[in-house]
Amino acid sequence: MVRLMFAPPWRSHKLSVFAWHPADAAAQTPGPPASSRGARPARDATPERAAQPRQPVTLLSAGTHAVAMPQLGYGVHQIPAHRCREATLHALRTGYRAIDSTSVDDNEPAVGAALRTTDVPRNEIFLTTKVCNDRHGYDQTLAAFEASSKRLGQGAVDLLLIHGPCPQQERYVDSWRAVLRLRDEGRIRAAGVTNFGIRHLQRLIDETGEAPAVNQVELHPYLTRTQLRAFHAEHGIATQAWGPLARGGRLLRDPVVVAIAREHARTPAQVVLRWHLQHGNAAIPKSADPARATQNFAIFDFELTPDQVAALDALDRGELTGAAPATTT
Ligand SMILES: NC(=O)c1ccc[n+]([C@@H]2O[C@H](COP(=O)([O-])OP(=O)(O)OC[C@H]3O[C@@H](n4cnc5c(N)ncnc54)[C@H](OP(=O)(O)O)[C@@H]3O)[C@@H](O)[C@H]2O)c1
Repeated sequence: MVRLMFAPPWRSHKLSVFAWHPADAAAQTPGPPASSRGARPARDATPERAAQPRQPVTLLSAGTHAVAMPQLGYGVHQIPAHRCREATLHALRTGYRAIDSTSVDDNEPAVGAALRTTDVPRNEIFLTTKVCNDRHGYDQTLAAFEASSKRLGQGAVDLLLIHGPCPQQERYVDSWRAVLRLRDEGRIRAAGVTNFGIRHLQRLIDETGEAPAVNQVELHPYLTRTQLRAFHAEHGIATQAWGPLARGGRLLRDPVVVAIAREHARTPAQVVLRWHLQHGNAAIPKSADPARATQNFAIFDFELTPDQVAALDALDRGELTGAAPATTT
């Protein structure tokens, strides 16, 4: 079974699966990546935590150290703001420990409210937000982060992503320098991008010497992006899938997906999410429906066979479901 494929710059290694744990969240000390230290026992045995399944993590490169991010997260894009606090709380109760937020919607305040309400300690939650495309530029990016941080009501966030390269604006390298500054000042723990193509990533590397820790792109069995993922692996960039369920559309009714789901007595969505995990993709499925959000998290206790993974790989048809980005193709 392929478990990962994130090769950090300090050395190429396979990431083993171990429990998401606060100590991993704090794995910011220089030295060997957390994965090389192996599995750790749960820190405490309160019933709520003891019931948590072991969750795989993706190690992100953050300059001199590694930051652990749960491989499966919860996306809140397009959840109406008035339902977002409760949806986020439900996700946390279910066991999700990574929340993918964005300043594009108006739900950062709701995510922040959920984080202040939950009894899950903040340092056990991996919080992501993004700098919008209309905030490119060094000073604008710094200001956009301050605004997000205020809306979230959180001092620091774990991962800040630049939403897209917007090459016509010619400012994404400046934006990237600002994100790196925020990381170096400890305002964010890891720095990344979304919807960047190979040429944009290469330019960041060439001009700043630093690759993003994460590139979040639309990715699912109808859009497997083998070239981009190979580039990521080569440069220690973690691949994070947005639209991991192809937005709940035809993919979940595809006969191949449905047949594999029957073989495992699982749902098509669980099979697709399992495919992501086994490829080493981080994934952030969204569901505003509590039952589906719960179902999407229940994927740590079965495994697709190599033939099933290959059958899902073969569904690739380069199909973008989002408006985005020709830039990432
Ligand atoms: N960086 C970017 O440019 C970008 C762009 C888009 C999204 N994102 C991030 O990625 C996250 C996920 O992407 P996404 O929302 O576009 O697509 P997605 O997660 O692939 O699909 C979400 C859709 O699938 C449905 N769904 C969820 N679980 C299901 C299940 N078990 N069975 C059947 N249908 C199910 C949802 O409906 P219900 O809600 O009714 O369950 C919703 O319509 C977003 O929330 C956001 O955080 C990032």
